[in-house]
Amino acid sequence: MQPFTLRTPRLLLDELRADDAQAVYDYCQDPEFEKYLTIPWPYHLSDARYFITEYVPRGWASGEELSWGLRTPAGDLVGVVGLRSKLGRFDIGFWLGAQHRGHGYMPEAVRAVLDWAFSTGFADEISWECIAGNLASASVARKLGFTFGGVRPSVLPARDGSHPESWHALLRASDDRSLKPGWPLPAPGAAPAPGSTPAPGATPAPGAAQNEGDTHR
Ligand SMILES: CC(C)(COP(=O)(O)OP(=O)(O)OC[C@H]1O[C@@H](n2cnc3c(N)ncnc32)[C@H](O)[C@@H]1OP(=O)(O)O)[C@@H](O)C(=O)NCCC(=O)NCCS
Repeated sequence: MQPFTLRTPRLLLDELRADDAQAVYDYCQDPEFEKYLTIPWPYHLSDARYFITEYVPRGWASGEELSWGLRTPAGDLVGVVGLRSKLGRFDIGFWLGAQHRGHGYMPEAVRAVLDWAFSTGFADEISWECIAGNLASASVARKLGFTFGGVRPSVLPARDGSHPESWHALLRASDDRSLKPGWPLPAPGAAPAPGSTPAPGATPAPGAAQNEGDTHR
């Protein structure tokens, strides 16, 4: 499959380029990424280069993982979204650089990917999962209309090959995108409880192993 671009009101989703490696490296020093993603840890500049120049192009070529860089109108890379179709299902993964969170970029970007996937018939349903307790990720999935499906081991192996307790959700092409009940989250728009942290089970995360499956999610 040839890489293609998607647009949202505030973002361009396009190819990752070799000169994004430094930004990817910088963002991937975030301890949240150690907890919730499967990226190599510690994360080196060579990991970012490998991700951009080898892993991502291979995913596009096979159609098994479509990855986009999220850019502001100024062209700055703020994060990555990936839609993958390995393991017999489609699933969505994403991250934002810490300084770009809290602006609603991720729901906006993922919505564009979902709309493309469903409107073209590329996917009929898309799964989402996160390490149990990753409230920010779950909030994105809830906003997009995913239906919470419960807590069970991750489908995607963590960095150490384990399958930690994870939250699961599903969105079907035929679903409306309204907020669904049943999420283990504060009411939409409610401030996080003082001192709350993304908590239980916050161990290494969904996604595949370092070499074959360095999904950066
Ligand atoms: C997941 C991610 C992309 C979300 O980005 P974002 O929408 O800008 O996220 P925010 O940090 O603004 O948080 C989103 C929501 O979670 C809530 N939230 C964040 N931390 C929280 C906490 N500790 N307790 C309760 N709620 C929390 C925010 O209040 C916000 O709620 P709102 O949407 O109702 O306003 C971003 O947090 C990220 O990149 N995290 C690290 C990588 C990761 O975990 N990726 C997903 C792997 S499955």
